[in-house]
Amino acid sequence: MTIFLTGSTGFVGRNLLEYLVKTQPQQQLVCLVRDLDKARAQWPQPPDNIRWLVGDLLRPETYRDALQSAELVFHVAALVGLRDGEAFFTQNTTATRHFVDTLIPSNRLRRLVFVSSISATDREPGSPATDCLTEAFPPQPQTDYGRSKLQAEQCIIASGLPHTILVPAYIYGPYLRAGSSTERLIQDLRAGKRYTRFPFPGAISAIHTEDLSQALWIAANHPHTLNERFLISNPEPVPIVDAFATLANCLGLNHTFTPSPITLSEADLARYRRQKPSPGSNPILRRILWEHYFACSPAKWYQATGHQAQIAFDDGVRRTLAQLEKNLSAAI
Ligand SMILES: NC(=O)c1ccc[n+]([C@@H]2O[C@H](COP(=O)([O-])OP(=O)(O)OC[C@H]3O[C@@H](n4cnc5c(N)ncnc54)[C@H](OP(=O)(O)O)[C@@H]3O)[C@@H](O)[C@H]2O)c1
Repeated sequence: MTIFLTGSTGFVGRNLLEYLVKTQPQQQLVCLVRDLDKARAQWPQPPDNIRWLVGDLLRPETYRDALQSAELVFHVAALVGLRDGEAFFTQNTTATRHFVDTLIPSNRLRRLVFVSSISATDREPGSPATDCLTEAFPPQPQTDYGRSKLQAEQCIIASGLPHTILVPAYIYGPYLRAGSSTERLIQDLRAGKRYTRFPFPGAISAIHTEDLSQALWIAANHPHTLNERFLISNPEPVPIVDAFATLANCLGLNHTFTPSPITLSEADLARYRRQKPSPGSNPILRRILWEHYFACSPAKWYQATGHQAQIAFDDGVRRTLAQLEKNLSAAI
């Protein structure tokens, strides 16, 4: 069987590729990569079943034949960020439209699995975020990133291709993207920034890359996932205070929460809820700290597949930091 993968040089895709190499050694893994040197640096001794295909989602001629020969397709690649910008529509919507159009004539495809984002669901402006998002929430993306991912989902659904859409909440694990929010939080905790010591009341749903990779494989193969869309995360959201304390503890920092002079009145919170993200200020980041903004329920996924993310947040953080340190010492 041939498995086609996009985004394998990125954070989520690299973890998925490692998972597939480990669990599917007999399958051919074709990875669409823009930068061959980057792929080779990540895999100095790649196993025989990986094939790098140099190309770009925006240039279907670079991947048409290989894509149409694949039985399973994981479309992970995207431009990611909780922001606005035209580039999101090019890299996420247009690129996915080209990809899907190229796949439609295939007579081999068993399943196309698409990694979307909780930002494509998001929340209605102005409303308090106290409950967990579910698939029943009408999507109300608040950023161009979220809108572009939702449009990509719509392209896939409209294509009539056999598909499954997974909508992850916050993802963490090895090979964090440089400049990612987790990396920045680690730096801020190390620097003792004041906000990291404030006991914010928010909570966020999270999933470790190993659990997500396993879910993606199940999504590709399970009969009850065909043409369905699932939110995916650990069963319970992580309180922000636990996330900060766990990270600090795993980093060996002497971290205590202090009552902070920062306060947020109901009126300010109501203002954040209505505010649109702008280059200088991102109300979504504030709402993640103060509310249950990106908290979601993976109940539909569990009911369909019986699968549940297993890696507890503290264990997942320990694994993530261990890999970061390994990389750091390899680079020195
Ligand atoms: N990170 C999160 O917390 C999170 C949460 C929810 C959902 N997601 C979703 O997870 C997926 C992966 O995100 P990530 O965090 O792994 O992002 P990432 O680290 O930035 O990786 C993005 C990958 O996409 C590739 N790519 C982008 N545009 C491409 C194009 N035109 N042609 C070919 N490849 C292209 C990149 O290639 P290069 O290496 O050449 O740049 C890279 O391999 C995305 O669909 C995102 O929406 C992420």
